Amino acid sequence: MGVKLGILGLGTVGTGTVQLLQDLVGRHPLLQEIEIYRVGVRSLSKPRAVELPEGIITTDLEAIVNDPTVDIVVEVMGGLEPARSLILKALSHGKHVVTANKAAIARFGAEIFTAANQAGVYVMLEAAVGGGIPVIQPLKQSLSVNQINAVTGIVNGTTNYILTRMQTEGSNFDDVLADAQKLGYAEADPTADVDGLDAADKIAILASLGFGGRIHLEDVYCEGIRQVSKTDIAYAEKLGFAIKLLAIAKRTFSSPSSPLSVRVHPTLVPKAHPLASINGVYNAILVEGEPIGQVMFFGPGAGAGATASAVSADILNLVATLKTSTTNPNPLLACRHQDYCEIAPIAELVTRFYARFLTKDRPGVIGKLGTCFGNFGVSLESIVQTGFQEELAEIVVVTYDVQEGNFRQALAEIRNLEAIDSIPSILRVL
Ligand SMILES: NC(=O)c1ccc[n+]([C@@H]2O[C@H](COP(=O)([O-])OP(=O)(O)OC[C@H]3O[C@@H](n4cnc5c(N)ncnc54)[C@H](OP(=O)(O)O)[C@@H]3O)[C@@H](O)[C@H]2O)c1
Repeated sequence: MGVKLGILGLGTVGTGTVQLLQDLVGRHPLLQEIEIYRVGVRSLSKPRAVELPEGIITTDLEAIVNDPTVDIVVEVMGGLEPARSLILKALSHGKHVVTANKAAIARFGAEIFTAANQAGVYVMLEAAVGGGIPVIQPLKQSLSVNQINAVTGIVNGTTNYILTRMQTEGSNFDDVLADAQKLGYAEADPTADVDGLDAADKIAILASLGFGGRIHLEDVYCEGIRQVSKTDIAYAEKLGFAIKLLAIAKRTFSSPSSPLSVRVHPTLVPKAHPLASINGVYNAILVEGEPIGQVMFFGPGAGAGATASAVSADILNLVATLKTSTTNPNPLLACRHQDYCEIAPIAELVTRFYARFLTKDRPGVIGKLGTCFGNFGVSLESIVQTGFQEELAEIVVVTYDVQEGNFRQALAEIRNLEAIDSIPSILRVL
């Protein structure tokens, strides 16, 4: 029996998710169990980027959450209401819920999770923070044996994009914001992003998972980036800092029972800190715990493909739960492979190479090297004589992409040249 999905919303995230679930080659075989049963939208006349059989798309979202045949409700419509009521209704009917809605979870999380616990079902929210970056499941599972000391993130792509451009171009906040709006990186009403409210929702969720307690959103201190000037950015740069909008949840003292500080504000981050080099629309979350130390999650924080990855992974987890029984082990924990992967031989690798040659100081050596490489179709990006080591000239070569087998054949010929003393190093270039 397939697992029936009722998807609420067919915008950026909903469309990406449907596209992923309609193209299953190379993905987890358990996804084949999923049936896109109903998709709820506001307008039936809107053109859609995905094709769905007649009768699946509906404007009656209530009917989806009330339908006894729907197993999992995927809420990707956004907003507070009716999203909250629809989630609660789905839970009360015993359906698992997947949501990408950080605003609803940050405000109504207590009510939603209490309802889920009462109904004995799960609410999954991987896409709600960090878009495609898996950070919710790691905090809930893989890292949960650690005493978490701090979760620090760049969790809003729009503000990170604006700050990065202010830094690299020396531009004003207002000019970059206007441009970001034109390019679609910032909303027409940018308040939720630039005033830090979206980041506050997200750090409330991360803090709750990392520190194992509920968070009142009002307790999250929140300051946006409107007052960050290009002058501040230039001074910070001179002093060795990048200015980032950080969302921070941290123990105030090192003891695991001390109170938390949960806040969002522009922060000077030392250039050597791992978060300082997270630029553009990317997100990253640094988790610090005992005994693990530091772990950083990095990736695309928004977009159809990224969020589809997170939403579909949540769906997959729920499908695995539904398929697990006393006779059927959890298909995500059991090994599902029987066949061996085909591995290409290293000689077929296509890569760039760096090679250093020590040669006798003879005229025309560089030309001879070039000829040998040319004989095997190896093109050189650069060839330089870097100096001398005692009597021997040192020549360094970097190739363009080449098949490793061809490169090795060229080297074999080069080794036989009378002028070549040795080849002390051969390294692959990324
Ligand atoms: N976009 C991202 O990269 C991203 C990243 C992480 C999390 N999220 C979260 O994911 C959720 C969805 O975001 P999105 O960008 O996909 O939004 P979106 O593009 O605006 O799509 C919203 C969809 O929900 C439908 N919808 C909204 N309100 C409705 C209502 N009252 N009744 C019926 N249908 C309704 C819309 O229907 P119509 O198509 O008919 O208008 C549309 O299909 C939000 O909670 C957002 O915060 C988004």
